[in-house]
Amino acid sequence: MQRRLYTGNDPRRAHSIEELRAMAARRVPNFCFEYVEGGSEQEATLQRNRDVFSEIAFKPRSLVDVSKRDIGITLFGRRSAAPFMIGPTGFSGLLSREGDIAMASAAAAAGIPFILSNASTVPLERVIELAGGRVWMQVYMYRTRDFVAKLADRAHRAGVEALVVTTDSAIYGKREWDLRNYARPLKLDLRNALDVLAHPRWMMDVLWPHGMPRFANLGDLLPPGQDSVRGAASALAKELDPSLSWDDIRWLRDLWPGRLIVKGLLHPDDAARAVALGADGIVLSNHGGRQLDGAVSAMDVLPEVVDVVKGRLAVMLDGGFRRGSDIVKAMALGADAVLVGRATTWGLAAGGRSGADRAIEILMTEVDRVIGLLGCSSIQALDHQYVQWTPRALRQTSHGVTPSGHQSVLEAEWQ
Ligand code: FNR
Repeated sequence: MQRRLYTGNDPRRAHSIEELRAMAARRVPNFCFEYVEGGSEQEATLQRNRDVFSEIAFKPRSLVDVSKRDIGITLFGRRSAAPFMIGPTGFSGLLSREGDIAMASAAAAAGIPFILSNASTVPLERVIELAGGRVWMQVYMYRTRDFVAKLADRAHRAGVEALVVTTDSAIYGKREWDLRNYARPLKLDLRNALDVLAHPRWMMDVLWPHGMPRFANLGDLLPPGQDSVRGAASALAKELDPSLSWDDIRWLRDLWPGRLIVKGLLHPDDAARAVALGADGIVLSNHGGRQLDGAVSAMDVLPEVVDVVKGRLAVMLDGGFRRGSDIVKAMALGADAVLVGRATTWGLAAGGRSGADRAIEILMTEVDRVIGLLGCSSIQALDHQYVQWTPRALRQTSHGVTPSGHQSVLEAEWQ
C-alpha cells in the first residue's frame, strides 16, 4: 500500500515538518508557497542544504542511562529551552495575519529566542509587546545608514537583546520560482491570480480588509505612502548596498550596545574577522539557498569554523534543518545553536499560531528522542565522537581534509 501524509487541516495532527509543509501548500496560494519554498537559480545550494545531513551518520553509545535528558542550552548567559531558535523570515504576514506575532509568541511559549526580520509586517515594538520572550532583530545594511541607526535605536529601546546583521544580501539572488509567478514585477499572472481566488480562507485571513500586508518597520526608508509591497520593492532594491564591507559592520558594532551577530558567513577567515571585530556571534548561512547558488552548506564549513573561532563567539548556523536529528548533528559538530527558517514558516502557513507551535514541538521532541537514542543525556555534552561523515562524503573532498575538519579521527576510521 502506498504511504501517504495526513491530508487534513489540523496542524496538531502533523507528525513531521514535511507534513506541515504539505498542509501549507494546501492552505496558502501558490505564489506564497513558492515565495517560501524557492531557492535561487538551479537550486543546487537549496538541495545541498538537505543532502549534507545524509552524509553524516550517528555513532550511538549503548547502555547509557538516558532516563533524564536535557535539550536546553545556555546562550549569552541565558537559558534557552532547546538548541534552536526561529530565524528571520521577511513578510510573514503573507502567510498568516500578523504572522510575526504568531511566531514570536510560539517561540516565547516554548522558551526559545525569536529573530524578527526587519522586513516584518508588524512593527517591532508591537511584536515585543504582544509576544514577550527573547526577541532578536535582523537588519540589512541599507544605503541610508541613518535609517539603520534609527532602526537599531528603536530596537534597543524596545528591548531587543541582539541585532543580527545579514551580510549575504548586498545583491539580490535570482529566485526564478518566485519570479515566474508574476507577469511583471509584483503583478501576479492570470494563473496565480485565479489561484488566489481559489483560497478564500487565506484571503479572509491575510487580505481582508486592508489588502496586502505592508512593511511595518521601513516607513522612514520608503517614500511617503510607499510601504506597500509594490511601492517598497523598487525603493528597497535601490537601498541594497553592494559596497558593503567590514567597515560597515565595525560602524554597527560601535553604535549598537547589545549583542551583535553577523549572519551569512561561510568562510573560516570571515569568522575570524567577526571575532576580531568584537561580534558576539555569527550565523553560518547561505540564506536558505536563496542567494549564491552553488555555495557550500553551513554544515560543510561548521567544524572548520568552530576550530578557528575557539569559543570566542557563539557559532550558530542555518539551512535545511527539518528534523531534530539535523539539529543534533550540528550540535555534535560544535554549533552553539541552530536557526530554523522554513520549518517554522511552513508551520505558520499551515495553521497560524498553532502551526508554529506544532513545528517547534515536533523539533523539540525529535531532538529529545534523538539524544536519548544516541545514548547522550544532554545536548551540551555532545561532541564529534557521536557522528561520522560517510565514506561518500569523505571521497568528495579533493584536498584530503574531511569536511568535518577532524582529519585524523575520521581518516583512521575509514581506512
Ligand atoms: C528568509 N531569510 C531571511 N534572512 C534574513 O536575514 N532576513 C530576512 O528577511 C529573510 N527572509 C526570508 C524569507 C523567507 C521566506 C525565507 C525562506 C528565508 C533566510 C533565513 O533567515 C534563513 O537563513 C534560511 O531560511 C535558513 O534556511 P531554511 O531553514 O529555510 O532551510
